[in-house]
Amino acid sequence: MLKKLVSTLPKAELHMHIEGSLEPEMMFRLAQRNQIELPYPDVDSIRRAYQFDCLQDFLDLYYQGMSVLQTEQDYHDLAWAYLQKCHEQNVVHTEIFFDPQGHTCRGVTFETVMNGLCAALDKAGNELGITHRLIMCFLRHLEEDDAFSTLEMSEPWRERITGIGLDSSELGHPPSKFKRVFERAADMGFRRVAHAGEEGPPEYVQEALELLKVHRVDHGNRSLESRNLVERLAASRMPMTVCPQSNLRLAVVKDMRDHPIRDMLNAGLNASIHSDDPAYFGGYINENFYALIDAIDLTSNEIMQLVKNGFKSSFLPREDIQRHLAAVDTVMDKIL
Ligand code: ADE
Ligand code: ZN
Repeated sequence: MLKKLVSTLPKAELHMHIEGSLEPEMMFRLAQRNQIELPYPDVDSIRRAYQFDCLQDFLDLYYQGMSVLQTEQDYHDLAWAYLQKCHEQNVVHTEIFFDPQGHTCRGVTFETVMNGLCAALDKAGNELGITHRLIMCFLRHLEEDDAFSTLEMSEPWRERITGIGLDSSELGHPPSKFKRVFERAADMGFRRVAHAGEEGPPEYVQEALELLKVHRVDHGNRSLESRNLVERLAASRMPMTVCPQSNLRLAVVKDMRDHPIRDMLNAGLNASIHSDDPAYFGGYINENFYALIDAIDLTSNEIMQLVKNGFKSSFLPREDIQRHLAAVDTVMDKIL
């Protein structure tokens, strides 16, 4: 019954890297289409390779995987497959991350990426009624200068890109490294989010708040190590986009039964549930909820809270958020 509730509820996804939705079947198909050689003989051996001890293990395969993306059609096909999944899973609004530097560094232009993604997003708006925002992330293992040039490349696309984010290898690359980039982006009117406290210490979350002036913290799990920080995050109702299956697969938690989502809600944190890199971590948004139902007996009330937090933390206008929250209440009444 709880899984039926999850699958029926309208949902907002706020933390999903489009490159992380590249399923092995599509990776293989695009590799053939673009005559790129993959270091795997078949789809099964790609899936078998998805065993990670830490974030970097995953990132190495993630960057290798995205190298099959070359043409507008490839970016369109990637996004369209994800958006169809959204439709199947009742995700009615999605704020998609993409990593421009993961493409421009291979000679694919910013325009190619944007044309492909936008074509699929516009089609999903028209045909499936799914709304979206685009958030371009800077790769934090690269230099500040590289982020600045990427910000410049986004200029012609200002109307299509709502926000900027910060992702990739966290340890050793604190938010402070990108303070000036985020200041410039803020002046340009971009919303701001950053991965922090996934592998990095609570101080990185604090830097994201104070130096990057983020509107949301992506992951934020390690905030729980600092009582002061938790109080501050709770008092400001700072959105935190939590990704349970990612946390398990990247060893942020050892066992799903240890997942801190209930502690986060009980501490007053504004947490919501998302899929991060669904093709790599074993599932899309619904599967992330199912994993918590199975492991920690997530309750209907917690499910409702997490789903509502997702809409409230989105970059949608207030009236749209209210409409989605009312739709959540309608489904809650119908199913329970
Ligand atoms: N890029 C894609 N997924 C990521 C994650 N979970 N952490 C940091 N960078 C990422
Ligand atoms: Zn992420």
